[in-house]
Amino acid sequence: MSHNIAIDGPAGAGKSTIAKIVAKTLSFIYVDTGAMYRAMALYMLRKKVRPNHEDEVSTACRDVDITIRHENGEQVVLLNGENVNGLIRTEEVGNMASAISVNADVRTKLVELQQALAATADVVMDGRDIGTVVLPKAQLKIYLTASTHVRALRRYQELTQRGENCEIEAIERDIAERDERDMHREISPLRQAEDAHLVDSSELTIDEVAQQIIRLYRENA
Ligand code: DC
Repeated sequence: MSHNIAIDGPAGAGKSTIAKIVAKTLSFIYVDTGAMYRAMALYMLRKKVRPNHEDEVSTACRDVDITIRHENGEQVVLLNGENVNGLIRTEEVGNMASAISVNADVRTKLVELQQALAATADVVMDGRDIGTVVLPKAQLKIYLTASTHVRALRRYQELTQRGENCEIEAIERDIAERDERDMHREISPLRQAEDAHLVDSSELTIDEVAQQIIRLYRENA
């Protein structure tokens, strides 16, 4: 039986950075489910699908084939065969991903893919509904969070390092809006699973959080 670790939490809590370290240390595969929603969102942006039109999103979703593969430990997302890794990390795509992820057809399609991946390999999977919906039987569930301000600050540093022009206030507003939508949507909202461990990363370093999760896994598995 494969072993699975589920890490959920709001945008900017450090899920992907930490999940990668945990996966590497335990020799698990890291699966970034947000990247799948982002690839789907990129398709919808290109096709000028209106995210608030449920039927448009559902129809477009049928033409999308998302697959992932791993190259040198990195997850590569393929959108209808095209490697879109370099195109999905913008705020525009992130906001579109949040908007279309409320759609039942989008979720069904991506959840199936995620469950198939976790059934055949030991994975650390991060997202919003991993502990609650995708992998309810995961050996370890983590709900990773941090204050809105700390998350905005981290995102600001990440974007400015990449040479993007941005304002901290706008990022903080965007994060609060995204949290609101992700936590209050009808299907699979972001919430802490009852059996998930709560980890607040506001005052901790990346390494401290990763070590805490590795320790919890070793104690629980
Ligand atoms: O983690 P991220 O910022 O890459 O995710 C982008 C959006 O995708 C997020 O705002 C909500 C959606 N998402 C989701 O609904 N369920 C997941 N398991 C992962 C992401």
